[in-house]
Amino acid sequence: MTTVLAFANQSGGCGKTTAATGMAAVIGELLEAGPTDERCLVIDLDLQGDGSHVLGITAADQTCGECGDMFPEHDPRGCPRGGDHVAIANMADVLAGIATMDEVIIPTQWPRVDLAPASLRLAAAEKNLSPLQDGQLRLRNAMIDLIASGRYKVILIDSPASLGVVAVNIFAVSRYVLACIKPGAKELRGLVGLEATIGQVNREINAQFAQICELGAIVVTDAPTARSGGAVYAEAMDYATDEYKGLVLPIIPRDVRVPESYSHQIPTPLYDGGKGKAAKALRTAVGLLIEMGVLPPMGPPPKAKRAPKKPAEVIPAESPASTTIS
Ligand SMILES: Nc1ncnc2c1ncn2[C@@H]1O[C@H](COP(=O)(O)OP(=O)(O)OP(=O)(O)O)[C@@H](O)[C@H]1O
Ligand SMILES: [Mg+2]
Repeated sequence: MTTVLAFANQSGGCGKTTAATGMAAVIGELLEAGPTDERCLVIDLDLQGDGSHVLGITAADQTCGECGDMFPEHDPRGCPRGGDHVAIANMADVLAGIATMDEVIIPTQWPRVDLAPASLRLAAAEKNLSPLQDGQLRLRNAMIDLIASGRYKVILIDSPASLGVVAVNIFAVSRYVLACIKPGAKELRGLVGLEATIGQVNREINAQFAQICELGAIVVTDAPTARSGGAVYAEAMDYATDEYKGLVLPIIPRDVRVPESYSHQIPTPLYDGGKGKAAKALRTAVGLLIEMGVLPPMGPPPKAKRAPKKPAEVIPAESPASTTIS
């Protein structure tokens, strides 16, 4: 069984990529420690390609000056803008219906984590998919065989900061959405729009496949300490926990190692020995998501319980009365 989980919110810069790549790294480690050879896949559907960057695709020295694509050294079809390349297939091609998931997936250097990378050509997806009859189902149709194969225990999707047709595609294939927010009233208001879109996708698309997409948890990220955030931050958190009860995960605190890990292209939980506050919070979040049933059980098999030690047989001491002294 493959669990598909999306990290989403229409706001930009609210920790989607940090959480998606960070949790992928933790999940990869758990799978590595487990008894099976299952893997975790990150699908990057944000044209900025930040998730691809963190997982090891270096955009800067691989970007085509003509079309802005990230993978110019592979050249099977020629640049769409007349440059001297065309990228290797990536998620833009999957949504365009000209590549399969198998053609775009690449391994990363992180244990058990694979990547389906994004490119700037995803910009065309919003425009091109909308008028198409199957435009909302492109991702689902492309992923159906991969999901059925069970090759991946978990698939994590890093979404763009919008609730357009790409997001609709994502909610039509995801079991759960993890809403990523920064702690604030504006950000919490945004959750209403996110939930409304998920509800609409459930009614208009998912119902026909007898599947449902649900808000699985709320990841509050880049949270300032209570002192620096002041009352507004505390109020927002109180409201979130009242309104969404057990769905709100412990905050991912503000931590300079997050932007540092991004620039070093290392998922946050693996950066600097995993010592940072945000690294620890991301590990905790994965554990809680497993407990909540949003993620499947993973990791080393529980140690067999040792049989309780038999109490040592007590040999009754000879009664002094029976002791014969010669
Ligand atoms: N806990 C944190 N502490 C410090 N900085 C953080 C934290 N979480 C995220 N950031 C920073 O905030 C910025 C946005 O984070 P991230 O890229 O994960 O968000 P996003 O939702 O994926 O953004 P976008 O909508 O642009 O894709 C990044 O510069 C990141 O380094
Ligand atoms: Mg992002």
